[in-house]
Amino acid sequence: MNEKTSLARPNTVLARAGFTSGFGVLAATLGSAVGLGNIWKFPYLTGANGGASFLLVYVLATLLVGLPVMMAEISLGRVGKANPISTLQALAPKGQPWWLIGVAGMLGAFLILSFYSEVVAWVFAYVVKAMRGSILSSDPQVTGAAFNALISDPMQSLLWQWGVLLFIGGILLMGVTKGIEAVTKKLMPILFLLLLLLCAVSLSLDKAWEGLVFLFHPDFSKITASVVLTAMGLAFFKLSIGMGTMMTYGSYFRDDQNIPLTTLRVMAADLSISMLAGIAIFPAVFTFGFAPTAGPSLVFITIPAVFSQIPMGQSLMVVFFVLAAIAATGAMLSLMEVPVVILHERLGLTRPKATLLTIFLLVILGSTSALSNSTLADFKLFGMTPFDLFDFVSSNIILPGGGIFIALFVGWVWGFDKFGGALTNKGHLQNQKVAQAVFFLLRYVSPALILVVMLKGLNLF
Ligand code: PFF
Repeated sequence: MNEKTSLARPNTVLARAGFTSGFGVLAATLGSAVGLGNIWKFPYLTGANGGASFLLVYVLATLLVGLPVMMAEISLGRVGKANPISTLQALAPKGQPWWLIGVAGMLGAFLILSFYSEVVAWVFAYVVKAMRGSILSSDPQVTGAAFNALISDPMQSLLWQWGVLLFIGGILLMGVTKGIEAVTKKLMPILFLLLLLLCAVSLSLDKAWEGLVFLFHPDFSKITASVVLTAMGLAFFKLSIGMGTMMTYGSYFRDDQNIPLTTLRVMAADLSISMLAGIAIFPAVFTFGFAPTAGPSLVFITIPAVFSQIPMGQSLMVVFFVLAAIAATGAMLSLMEVPVVILHERLGLTRPKATLLTIFLLVILGSTSALSNSTLADFKLFGMTPFDLFDFVSSNIILPGGGIFIALFVGWVWGFDKFGGALTNKGHLQNQKVAQAVFFLLRYVSPALILVVMLKGLNLF
């Protein structure tokens, strides 16, 4: 890379947009956090890793590691007011390569997007299938076969994924993030209400109790090192942290925004939506005889079964998958924002060009995920298909790894004065105690905890 286009060249000052209202900040940040992580990943990981014990570790990881790292990222972003690479370069002492966290984050964004876009593709396909009424059944054989038919068809997998990428790219190209923000703000409450309705139906099923026991009664013998790593990886993935997304969004935060309060609200709302998804799904899993350990297909085979029990189930299922697609769209926009803003601000590409380049790269990389259940099913690296590998590497290595370095940077390089200044808005907010506690976690607890969990979980010591 020559000097002119190097990612490491100093920041060029470009005019930047930002979120305008306090509620807009909250909606956009929540829009990034809430996505398929709640509706798809949380239930299937909880199902595959022992239920309540996994949930407990996940909540602990969110509190001890997720919250501090999220506050750190948003603070850095708001002070740096640039993409993650430029922010870290500007805030670090000269010559120290902390900006590499931003480069790793960009790589993480591509890996996540390449499989995430495929899951969104399944959601889009399910909207159409639900309209046709072909997948509504309480028979696991029927719903399982419908899902397998979709994912094992290479053409359908690719075309739906390209459709998704074009759709999201189109939104970014039109520059109507505000439009999407406005739409998401209105529709997220509907998703919430629909989830509540699903919970009510699911709780009225025969074996609802067994589902609740699975979700809330921990069996500590199920906790292993790799389960802890998976739970911690989920905490990072859920809050969109460890790869610069929240740093980027932090750069759009207003200076009077209360960072700790916003972070807490986002975390609480995000956790509630995951719990509702769990309550909607596990009673049905046990009643209809699905396996909780089904993996990524879990939601796609259980949700149709729950809807098949409700009057107007077919229409409601269409609405449900449309809303899931919208929730996923908010998350995907924030994921894409990372490479787009880096390519725009660092390499000087216009935003449309940066967006097109990002989509082009994703069409190529993403196709390996799309074909992971068909043409490339036997193509395995470290025993995993590309889809599983990208998921594993991003959630269990890149995001926690990024989290370690972000925590170390704030705790040992940036320092308490600047971090405390960001959390208290230079002393205007009464957040001193929170700032002290969070700084302590960032300096001593989070990095060590993440490191130990990673090394143990990956079987490295
Ligand atoms: N938090 C999103 C979800 O749970 O669906 C996924 C995600 C978005 C992960 C943005 C990482 C990210 F930077």
